[in-house]
Amino acid sequence: MCRVSSILVKLTISPFGQDDIPFGKSLTDGENWHRTAKDWARLLRIEPSGIFKAEIDGKDAGVAAVTGYGTLAWVHSVIVAREYRGQGVGMTLMDACIGYCKGLGARCIKLDSVPAAKSFYEKLGFTEEFESLRFMRAGERGSALVQRMRSEDLRSVIPFDRAMTRINRAKVIEEIYKDNPEWAFYARDSHGIRGYLLGWQGEDRVNLGPCVCVAGSDQWFVKLVRSAMSTDPTKDFRICVSEKNNRALIALKSMNFEKVQSSTRMFMGDRFSEAEASYAMISPEKG
Ligand SMILES: CC(C)(COP(=O)(O)OP(=O)(O)OC[C@H]1O[C@@H](n2cnc3c(N)ncnc32)[C@H](O)[C@@H]1OP(=O)(O)O)[C@@H](O)C(=O)NCCC(=O)NCCS
Repeated sequence: MCRVSSILVKLTISPFGQDDIPFGKSLTDGENWHRTAKDWARLLRIEPSGIFKAEIDGKDAGVAAVTGYGTLAWVHSVIVAREYRGQGVGMTLMDACIGYCKGLGARCIKLDSVPAAKSFYEKLGFTEEFESLRFMRAGERGSALVQRMRSEDLRSVIPFDRAMTRINRAKVIEEIYKDNPEWAFYARDSHGIRGYLLGWQGEDRVNLGPCVCVAGSDQWFVKLVRSAMSTDPTKDFRICVSEKNNRALIALKSMNFEKVQSSTRMFMGDRFSEAEASYAMISPEKG
């Protein structure tokens, strides 16, 4: 129960399921997050018990979600419907997420916060880590400079990702690939895999990421991004990069990507520094 202006209301938290996708989409549409119903369905497949819905007096009031990567867990999609803000719904949803992360055994919890929500997360004990930058550009004609990823390549790409990032992102990689094989590329030479890139079709742009390359091998990053853009030069492309990855930032500038937005990476618990090999994040919602 919580009290709003002396009126007692009943606040409940329950698992978010398939039937809640239209509600989730109405919230992300309200914030202009460009998330499709297919994106919501994929998030649910990735962490079926990790998405929570808040109801007030039986009416849908908000959502929040977790993706677990082993010792690191990611909180995302925290939105309260406008009419229910300021009544403790956001905090209650975050308590559910943090409890779920702890149940997964996570020692560090991370999220990307929009500027307006930073102090909300600080109240919960999250600390700023770095700026998480978003870049966009229109596609360009060209040809693939590296190999297209086939489903059997996931057998080597997933262990490569794990070795480079020190976290287990297998289920996210598999689910993004399953929906979007046309945007997946990987680079290999006589030393083995040098890098890979996934992408997925969003509402009005193609989102590129994750991209992981052997640290310091910027040329592979450029080839992977150019190969993905050549798949359909009529699209717009978005990519998210840490402000700490100078090599990725220089490479994006050389490809004429423009910064469009930023958010703040925040963490709680043990510090977990992201790998230099991580050239592009999966997305603001999945780290
Ligand atoms: C951020 C958000 C989830 C907070 O939900 P909420 O239900 O309004 O938050 P609560 O009522 O639980 O607020 C808890 C505390 O955080 C504070 N708070 C809430 N929203 C805040 C904000 N945007 N900025 C600063 N403080 C905020 C409240 O004042 C309250 O503090 P108090 O307990 O000292 O009074 C909600 O404002 C929202 O949906 N925003 C739009 C979507 C968004 O930006 N999500 C975050 C994406 S990273």
